[in-house]
Amino acid sequence: MGRCHVLIWLRRTFGSSIGSKALMACTGLVLIGFLFAHLGGNLLLFADADGAAFDAYATALEHSPLLPLAEAGLALLFCAHIVLGVRVQRANREARETAYRVRRTHGARTPGSRTMVATGLVILLFLVAHLYDFRLCRPEGDSLALIVRERLASPSGLVLYGAGVLALGLHLTHALRSALHTLGLHHPRYEALVDRASFLLGFVLGLAFLSFPLVFFLGGAA
Ligand code: HEM
Repeated sequence: MGRCHVLIWLRRTFGSSIGSKALMACTGLVLIGFLFAHLGGNLLLFADADGAAFDAYATALEHSPLLPLAEAGLALLFCAHIVLGVRVQRANREARETAYRVRRTHGARTPGSRTMVATGLVILLFLVAHLYDFRLCRPEGDSLALIVRERLASPSGLVLYGAGVLALGLHLTHALRSALHTLGLHHPRYEALVDRASFLLGFVLGLAFLSFPLVFFLGGAA
């Protein structure tokens, strides 16, 4: 296949509503993988009182030659997921009056499925503030563990991080079942199981991320 044909295929596939949904599902599943890795790193904040374990981990990450590549990939994933989400939502709205409605959700409607766009927006706002806090605007040389603990111990930190991760949890309760359905990986016999697994994923990840603002706000930064 020539380069031109590949480009035409890419445009046809991912320019369509179905293609957009498929790519959205794939980017979403990889982002869930990132969340598990991020949670694993963050749990080191609980490993000791002075934050040495977390700081050693953060320093190792920052010195990794793979970091720029991983960050660029992550940024691309987040951007693609958001742009495709807006496109699918718009196509859905435009098609609402026609017979060719793009299915917005799969299975029974749940609080998670009804609020996907709203929770997606809250997560986006949270992400911008979060990157500003810990990635873009942090003093050089200071202990990152201490910066994180102090930020989460403040009332504004509790509100921002609490709202962000609750929105994330709700978003994820629908994400897995929607992604598997879109990719055609579904069977009526396993539908209830997949629904339960998706709910559990949102509940567990939401609660796990919520533990950081809760523990540091209630226990203080030190
Ligand atoms: C409340 C729990 C969270 C805490 C304590 C936390 C903490 C941190 C810290 C300290 C960093 C900077 C790491 C470094 O520079 O070495 C970071 C980066 C990041 N966090 Fe979080 N985070 C939390 C939740 C989240 C959530 C829910 C998301 C996604 C929706 C997220 C997405 C990111 C991203 C994309 C980066 C940038 C990664 C990079 O550039 O290397 N975080 N987080």
